[in-house]
Amino acid sequence: MAERSLRRIGVLTGGGDAPGLNAALRAVVKTAILRYGWTVIGFEDGYEGAILGRVRQLGLDDVRGLLVRGGTILGASNRANPFFFAHPEQGDTEPRDHSRTLLATLERIGIDALIVIGGEGSLSIAHRLNEMGLRVIGIPKTIDNDVRGTLQTIGFDTAVTTATEAIDRLHTTAESHHRVMLVELMGRDAGWIALSAGVAGGADVILIPEIPFVLDRVVEVIRGRRQRRRSFTIVAVAEGARPLGGEAVFERTGPLPYQRKYGGISLVLQQQLSRILPTEVRAVVLGHLQRGGTPTPTDRALATALGSAAVDALADDDDGVMVAIRAHPAGQATWGIVRVPLAEVARGPRLVPLDHPLVRAARGIGISFAQQDEE
Ligand code: F6P
Repeated sequence: MAERSLRRIGVLTGGGDAPGLNAALRAVVKTAILRYGWTVIGFEDGYEGAILGRVRQLGLDDVRGLLVRGGTILGASNRANPFFFAHPEQGDTEPRDHSRTLLATLERIGIDALIVIGGEGSLSIAHRLNEMGLRVIGIPKTIDNDVRGTLQTIGFDTAVTTATEAIDRLHTTAESHHRVMLVELMGRDAGWIALSAGVAGGADVILIPEIPFVLDRVVEVIRGRRQRRRSFTIVAVAEGARPLGGEAVFERTGPLPYQRKYGGISLVLQQQLSRILPTEVRAVVLGHLQRGGTPTPTDRALATALGSAAVDALADDDDGVMVAIRAHPAGQATWGIVRVPLAEVARGPRLVPLDHPLVRAARGIGISFAQQDEE
C-alpha cells in the first residue's frame, strides 16, 4: 500500500471473550476518532464478520459506558478461522481456505488496516493475513495470559481475581468440613491462572501443565497436613495439568485446536484421591465464570493503554506488530508499551517458565507442585 494516510480502519475481537475487550474497543474508537479523525468499522463475531462482511461503524456513542462492561459488543468466535472456514453462502460442505474471501471483503468495504484483538490463535491468523499483504496491528487478550511478547494479556487480571475469590470462599467451607477441595482453573496448556490464583489464594498444592504431577505426592501433602493438624487441603488445578508420563484430560477432542476442550482433571483426581484417602474430596470446576463479569481496574487500564497504542502504531506507519507491555523497556517507567513482530507471537503459546519468581516463591513458602523429585 503506497499511500499510508489512513482513513478507515477495521477492528475485530477474535477467540474466546475476556474481560476488558470492550475497554480496548473503546480506546481504539476514541483514539482513532479524537486523535486522528479516522472512521472505525467493527467486524462482528471475530474473523467470521470479516469473511462474511458483517460490519457496523463504531462511533463515540457506540462505545459510551463500555469501560466497565464484560464480554465484547462485537461478539467473538473461537471457531472462525479464515484459513479453514465453511462459507454458508458458497455451499461449502467442508471447511476450506477463505483467506482471499476475507481480503476481498475488506477491500470492498474500503478498510485500510485491521486491528485484531485476540489471543495466540487469532494473532497467529493475523500474522498469516499480514504476510498476504493485509496491514495488521495486534492487541493481546486472553484470560490464559499465554501470548508471547507481552508481560500480561487483557483479561488475565480479572480471571485471577475471580479465581482467587473462589479459592478464598472454598477455604472457609473446606476448613469447616475438613475436606480436600480441588478447584479447576482455565488456561489451556499454560498454568498462569492456577499459579497466580493458587499463590494469591493460599492453595496448598498447585498443579500446572508445565510441571507434571505425581499423584502420590499429592497424597503425601494431604496426609502430612493432617499429621500437622491441618484438617483441610486446597488444591488449585490448571485444566491442562497432567500426570507425569500421562495425558491431560479433555472434555471434547478433535483434530483442530478449537475442537480440543480441556476439562475434567479435577473430577478424575477427586475419584482417584477418594479411593486412597479416608478424607472427603470435592471438586469445583470454575469454568466460564473466569471469563465473565466486569474487568478489574488493572484490565481496564491495560486495555485502554494497548487499544490506544494500537491506533498510534498505525498512525506511525507500523505494520505486522502486536502492541505489548514490558517492564522497564526504557528509562524510569515501571512498564511501557513495545511493538513485537506478529511472527514472534505466532511461535506458539507462552508457558510458565520453571524458574519464574512465583514458582520459586510458592516453593519457598511450602506450596507443593506434586513434582516427583520435590523435597
Ligand atoms: O482461551 C480461553 C479459554 O477460556 C481457555 O482457558 C479454555 O480452555 C477455553 O477458552 C474454553 O473455550 P470455550 O469457551 O470454547 O469452552
